Amino acid sequence: MKKTLTLTAGLLCSLNAWAMTPSNEPIQPILPAKITDPAKVELGKQLFFDPRLSLSGFISCNSCHNLSMGGSDNLQTSIGHNWQKGPINSPTVLNSSMNVAQFWDGRAADLKEQAAGPIANPGEMAFTHSLALDTLRSIPQYRDAFKAVYKVDKITIDAVTDAIAEFEKTLVTPHSRFDRWLLGDKEALTQVELEGYKLFKDTGCTTCHNGPAAGGNSFQKMGLVEPYKTDNPAEGVAALTGKDADRFKFKVPTLRNVELTYPYFHDGAYWKLEEAVDVMARLQLGRKLSDDEVGKITAFLKTLTGEQPSFTLPILPPSTNDTPQPKPFE
Ligand code: HEC
Ligand code: HEC
Repeated sequence: MKKTLTLTAGLLCSLNAWAMTPSNEPIQPILPAKITDPAKVELGKQLFFDPRLSLSGFISCNSCHNLSMGGSDNLQTSIGHNWQKGPINSPTVLNSSMNVAQFWDGRAADLKEQAAGPIANPGEMAFTHSLALDTLRSIPQYRDAFKAVYKVDKITIDAVTDAIAEFEKTLVTPHSRFDRWLLGDKEALTQVELEGYKLFKDTGCTTCHNGPAAGGNSFQKMGLVEPYKTDNPAEGVAALTGKDADRFKFKVPTLRNVELTYPYFHDGAYWKLEEAVDVMARLQLGRKLSDDEVGKITAFLKTLTGEQPSFTLPILPPSTNDTPQPKPFE
């Protein structure tokens, strides 16, 4: 009897939250990840943290997408193999499953395709897929795990990137204060934060930063009204299409967890969120905001920080006598 009561109460409660979801808001709440294949996710997590997928044996996905720091490296541009200066700011991997495509210019269609890039990129992990596979195949625990999850006798790059992508899909950040407000908890935001949200909408930020990720779903020109000045040579989508109209078009970044993912923009030129807000209003919308308005929008943006992925740090299986040795100084 007691059980039925709680069940009904729970159902009413969630119906209530659903009914109160303001469906006309441009940003929707992030839903918690549904894990259907925990063994695959666990394997992907190990690979995400395993530096032996790099030539140096030192750089893992987590080096540049640090899950203790909002899924980014908090550097202007990343540091790759041999301390190479990276070409562009590292976007967060948090909520990246919601992106319309991956990379600033969208050159990878999805997370699986993306994951094949960094391992073999000479400026990032500087390995080859075949050496990465030799490494994994030399470790019996990895052989067993891939066999259990993918029914393969020989580990393939397809399985490696699939497992990493499956892990990345779990890196969503629900339950931010803003989402709690969206779901009906009117106490979740302060008056200043609410005013910031109203300004964010009224100024026109939501034309580009909308949907559950508050971005990630379109490519837009950086410097629509006023040109953006930068020394960074990145061309945006034009690098793929060769079209002049695509010059300086970048994927609109998600504003989820933006409080954690400084410095800002593809060149990482701005460290302060207030500055990024001011630049956006001027360059994208032709609006000069007052310090007070910038402060309020910034206060709102910080309510988009969600629950960070939390899990046990994976313990990686040891190398064997057959594992290729790392070459950190080549
Ligand atoms: C040396 C630093 C570095 C390493 C190592 C690295 N990345 Fe990245 N990652 C970047 C940078 C920089 C970008 C942006 C590149 C671009 O857009 O041209 C990026 C982009 C991404 C994106 C696209 C996100 C978006 O919003 O477009 C994903 C997803 C990602 N990396 C996942 C991974 C995975 C998985 C690994 C490990 C296999 C990895 N990265 C290893 C620096 C790194
Ligand atoms: C016309 C589309 C558009 C509008 C309108 C727009 N943005 Fe952006 N926003 C972008 C693009 C594109 C970028 C990435 C630019 C780059 O990195 O060069 C971006 C980047 C940002 C960033 C940096 C995020 C990061 O991780 O680097 C912030 C913060 C931001 N926008 C906030 C705002 C705010 C606040 C407004 C309203 C005042 C706004 N944006 C209006 C398209 C837009």
